[in-house]
Amino acid sequence: MKIAIGNDHSAVHMREVIAAYLREEGYEVEEVGTFSTESSNYPEWGEKVCEKILNKEADLGIAICGTGVGISIACNKVKGIRACCCSEPYSSKLSRQHNNSNVLCFGARVVGEELAKMIVSEWLNAEFLGGRHQKRIDMISDIEARQ
Ligand code: RB5
Repeated sequence: MKIAIGNDHSAVHMREVIAAYLREEGYEVEEVGTFSTESSNYPEWGEKVCEKILNKEADLGIAICGTGVGISIACNKVKGIRACCCSEPYSSKLSRQHNNSNVLCFGARVVGEELAKMIVSEWLNAEFLGGRHQKRIDMISDIEARQ
């Protein structure tokens, strides 16, 4: 399983921590930047993570900014991306099981490193449950196609 991970300037250290954690857990990881703590724009980094998934260069993505909010909004503008902004592991787990999320976002200024690892771990270890949830995912795709 390959994970693309990206971040803005506020989350450089958090991305390093999470990338190292993922590698320890046996995942293949591609870091798309930014690698600089100079101010930059979160939509750029969110889009890079999403492109990796759309181009099938990654299975899932993780996108981190200060709050996780801006970068999740940006990721959700990309067709086929279901990004979730989670500050705790219950939501990240359910976002896979019910919403089939393919990008996980969180805020480096919101959660600590150990909580972030737990959010990531629950997300990666959960599986989409399908069934009644698939219909709702299809409805989301319909909105994407119509609007
Ligand atoms: C950058 O200062 C900050 O606005 C960004 O990291 C993020 O929190 C946006 O949602």
